Amino acid sequence: IDVKTLRGATNGIITIDPGYKNTGACLSGITFLNGEKGILRYRGYSIEELAEKADFLEVAYALIFGDLPTTDQLAQFHSDIREKAIIDDDVKKILDAFPKVAHPMGVLSSLTSALTAFNPSSVNVDSEEEMYRAIVKIMGKFPVLVAWAMRKKQGLPLSYGSNSLGYVENVLTMMFQRPDEEYVINPIIKDALDKLLILHADHEQNCSTSTVRIVGSSHAGLFPSLSAGISALWGPLHGGANQAVLEMLEAIKEDGGDTKKYMAKAKDKNDPFRLMGFGHRVYKNFDPRAKIIKKAADQVLNDLGVEDPILEIAKGLEQEALNDPYFVDRKLYPNVDFYSGIIYRAMGIPVEMFTVMFALGRLPGWIAQWREMRLNKEPIGRPRQIYTGENHRAFTEIKKR
Ligand code: ACO
Repeated sequence: IDVKTLRGATNGIITIDPGYKNTGACLSGITFLNGEKGILRYRGYSIEELAEKADFLEVAYALIFGDLPTTDQLAQFHSDIREKAIIDDDVKKILDAFPKVAHPMGVLSSLTSALTAFNPSSVNVDSEEEMYRAIVKIMGKFPVLVAWAMRKKQGLPLSYGSNSLGYVENVLTMMFQRPDEEYVINPIIKDALDKLLILHADHEQNCSTSTVRIVGSSHAGLFPSLSAGISALWGPLHGGANQAVLEMLEAIKEDGGDTKKYMAKAKDKNDPFRLMGFGHRVYKNFDPRAKIIKKAADQVLNDLGVEDPILEIAKGLEQEALNDPYFVDRKLYPNVDFYSGIIYRAMGIPVEMFTVMFALGRLPGWIAQWREMRLNKEPIGRPRQIYTGENHRAFTEIKKR
């Protein structure tokens, strides 16, 4: 189907579909998702195989440009990214101005938008070459901002890591390197982070991705579109769920580990409590990413020799939900974020950074979707409505109201 033939096709009928549960907003060749069967593929490659065999930068390349890269293509991509990692020194002043209590998602969203001011040539991008330049810039600068957002909270000096490292190795180095200490990368942690970032890299037209596409559809530029996507991801019903899950598991532990009590709360329609990390708009079967992450959580904790009682609480909740008619009837299974926080915690990443790590993983997906939207020359996103307000009213002078 050709987007151009569809773009002029309106027939005067307006559909109302709250939450866009049944509305397709675009044609896309990036991610295939079958929620009934629990299938997820990026550019045709199965998520299981990518998580097992690929690294994050290869997956990012495939998402953005369509195919897995050759060795030369990957090396070129990585070198172009590294070349653009340096951030204008004045951005540090903006970072400094944030209070220590600022949530790192707010910091990340603001700084990503602020990058536009320091890189004006990345705003009006129309050609593929201009897009490529904006893409490698943000792929280089974004992990630096991620690491800085964490270091700022911890009162640590900012770091660019090392140019000689791989993309994910350098993310870890920029985050964890202490002044005057050598940071030795633990291969278990590096592999786990690669996997987590790959599993979060794209998920078709979710809330944040739709936001990126709709903001980008006004030709606002890549960085502001991404900044809007970060804000959308922050909410606890979306990416913010990973932080909410860990806080919930902690609260259950503190409360004596009574999972049944919390299951009952989740089912009580008079109680706003929801079992965080359960349910998904599209998956009405197991989230394939959750299966991989659950296995990885077991492995990472075992390999690192970490004993975390909340893993047992999480498994207990999952087991109870699988046997509970409320959850079974509504097809509520653990989603990608149910187990990811447990791995992040074992890696030494603070809870407030969990959603930031999700954003880092989702970056190539957002970029790929933005690029596809622009290359397809999609029209500006502009939903309609059914008006339900007052009919025509006479104006009353303020004194007489
Ligand atoms: N706990 C208890 N009940 C739930 C849960 C939950 N986690 N999720 C859904 N339900 C119930 C709803 O109350 C509703 O019940 P009803 O039919 O009796 O009214 C039914 O299941 C359907 O739920 P909806 O909210 O209509 O489903 P929707 O598709 O709109 O929402 C969502 C999906 C937002 C993911 C929801 O399941 C939820 O809030 N989950 C918890 C938050 C979470 O984990 N979010 C992360 C999603 S994954 C991601 O974004 C990366």
